[in-house]
Amino acid sequence: MERNGDNCPICNGRGIVIIDTERAAPCKCMAQKKVQARFRNAKISREMLNCRFNQFSSRYYSKNLRDHFNGKTYYDNAATAFAAAQKFVRDVRENPHADGLILTGPVGSGKTFLACAIANALLEEGREVLFMVVPDLLDQIRATYDHANSYTEQDLMDTAREVGVLILDDLGAHNYTDWARNKLYSIINYRLNNALPTVITTNLDLAELEEYVGERTTSRIVQMCKIHRLVVETDIRITKRREKDSAH
Ligand SMILES: Nc1ncnc2c1ncn2[C@@H]1O[C@H](COP(=O)(O)OP(=O)(O)OP(=O)(O)O)[C@@H](O)[C@H]1O
Ligand SMILES: [Mg+2]
Ligand SMILES: [Zn+2]
Repeated sequence: MERNGDNCPICNGRGIVIIDTERAAPCKCMAQKKVQARFRNAKISREMLNCRFNQFSSRYYSKNLRDHFNGKTYYDNAATAFAAAQKFVRDVRENPHADGLILTGPVGSGKTFLACAIANALLEEGREVLFMVVPDLLDQIRATYDHANSYTEQDLMDTAREVGVLILDDLGAHNYTDWARNKLYSIINYRLNNALPTVITTNLDLAELEEYVGERTTSRIVQMCKIHRLVVETDIRITKRREKDSAH
């Protein structure tokens, strides 16, 4: 993310902070730079940079319709998920072993939006975050098998396992090979064992998640992440498109 690259407000991009005339120390943005160097796709796009807590609108979530999973209104579920996302940021500030979150719900319901809002808030505070869309993560790990790559599979796996906060966007209905399932299991299992906060977004419910990524990985996700539901009647992308079109 550009903001955490060259223009770190703490060190002005120098990577070190001066303690006194004798001593300097690496700036904490260096850890984030390392994460970003290893995963070229870990950049938050321009679109994602705009996903801020204060931009999150609750008007897309119905106050009448109820989610069949928990009987709460879409509106109440979204409000709870929103509050949980903000609380996650506060918790991580105080506790490097805070509980994670899993945001589930249909296409275009704000899951990635909230995950980005979390990432943006944490990065602004100089925290180490790896935000990866799951298929990209797997592609990048696979690409290390190419000898021209400067990082090894081990480098990337270590980063995903150990990074302060890992955000896995779209753990969805992809065709996971056994290889991919093993990589995901290994990352999740490590993070569970070391109580490292992880945020996951998915279109799948838990039964489907088991089907796609396996029972053992799903079981660990459930243990380390609190589940929240974001449900909309109509894909927010479509609603926004309609609003734009009717404004002209
Ligand atoms: N609560 C919200 N307020 C304002 N804009 C929103 C909100 N939720 C989502 N959006 C916008 O709607 C679009 C779709 O949201 P998002 O990408 O978060 O959906 P998603 O649940 O991750 O969908 P998918 O399952 O397809 O990945 C994005 O452009 C996002 O910025
Ligand atoms: Mg998404
Ligand atoms: Zn810095």
